[in-house]
Amino acid sequence: MRSPRFTQLHHADHAAVRTELLQGLVAPAAHTSPKFLYDALGSRLFEAITELPEYYPTRTEAAIFASHGARMAVHMPPEATLIDLGAGNCHKAASLFATLKPSRYVAVDISVDFLRSALLLLQRQHPHMDMAGLGLDFSAGLSLPQELMRDVAPSDSPRVLFYPGSSIGNFTPVDALDFLRSVHTACGTAPGSGLLIGVDLVKGTPELEAAYDDALGVTAAFNLNLLLHINRTLGTDFAVREWAHVALFNTTASRIEMHLQARHTLTVRWPGGERTFTGGERIHTENSYKWTLPGFQALLANAGFVATQAWTDTEQRFAVCWARAL
Ligand code: AVI
Repeated sequence: MRSPRFTQLHHADHAAVRTELLQGLVAPAAHTSPKFLYDALGSRLFEAITELPEYYPTRTEAAIFASHGARMAVHMPPEATLIDLGAGNCHKAASLFATLKPSRYVAVDISVDFLRSALLLLQRQHPHMDMAGLGLDFSAGLSLPQELMRDVAPSDSPRVLFYPGSSIGNFTPVDALDFLRSVHTACGTAPGSGLLIGVDLVKGTPELEAAYDDALGVTAAFNLNLLLHINRTLGTDFAVREWAHVALFNTTASRIEMHLQARHTLTVRWPGGERTFTGGERIHTENSYKWTLPGFQALLANAGFVATQAWTDTEQRFAVCWARAL
C-alpha cells in the first residue's frame, strides 16, 4: 500500500493576522474577512449549517453530482490528477472517485492537519492511488509549488482542479476573476485538464435570506462566534449578547451579506485602543455572491477557460461547471 505524502507550506503570520483584523475593526465601515469565521468552532458550525433544511447549496450540489456524475465524466480526462481545493474531510472528492477514476489525488487545505486522518483513511480504501496532502493558503490566488507538483502531478498527466461548494461566491467578482486565472494556470499544459466547480445561482430573496438566517440560529452562532475568535486574537472585549446576526440579499450587488449589528451603543476595548459602535451600526463579516449561469460562464471564459459544460438541478438553484483549460 502507498502512503500519502504531506507537505505544509502555509505558516500563519500572527502579527499580520492581528493587523488585518484591527484595520477592519477601526475602518469607518467596520469589516472582517470571511476567513476569520473558520476557527475550530466556526468550522464545526459551518459543517452543521450544511445539514440545515434552509441551507440548500450542499445537498443540491450533491444531488447534481449523483444524477449527472456519469455524464460529467464523459467530458473529463481519465487517469487524471484530481486536485481538491479546500478538501477538508475529502468526502466530496472521494465520492467522485468511482465515476472520475483519477490516478492521483492531491488534497489542498490551509493546514495538512485537517487532511491527515481523512487522507490516511482514503489511502486504505484506495491502496494503489498516489495521494498527497498540501497545506496551502490559496485565498489570495493559487500557486502550486512546481517541485512538489512534478512528483505528485507530472506535467504530462491531465489535471482536474476541483472547487465545489460555491466557495467561489465568497470572492468579489474582481477577486474571483483573479483567483480563476490562477486556477487556470495551475491546470498546467496537459490536454484535457480543467476545472470542476460548483456555483450558487441567483434566486428569490426569501429563499436566499432563509439559507443564511435559519430558524435554529446555527448561522447566527457561526457569525457571532467571530466575536469570540477576535477576542482571543486581539484581546478585545466583545460581548456576544450585545450583537445581532443580520443576513440580507443585496440585489444590486447580487450577494448575500452577513453583518453583526450592535444592539445598542457600546464601546469595544482592546490593549492600546477602543471603538464605540452606535446602536444599529454593523460589522460586515461575509459576502456570498450569487451568479447567473451565463454570467458565471462568461467569468470562466474571461479567466482563460475555453469551453464550459454545466449541469443544474431541476429548479436551477445551483450549477456544477466543467471548464476545460486548453
Ligand atoms: C463556504 N461558503 C460557500 C458558505 C456560503 O454559502 O457562502 C459560507 C456560509 N456562510 C454562511 N452560511 C454559509
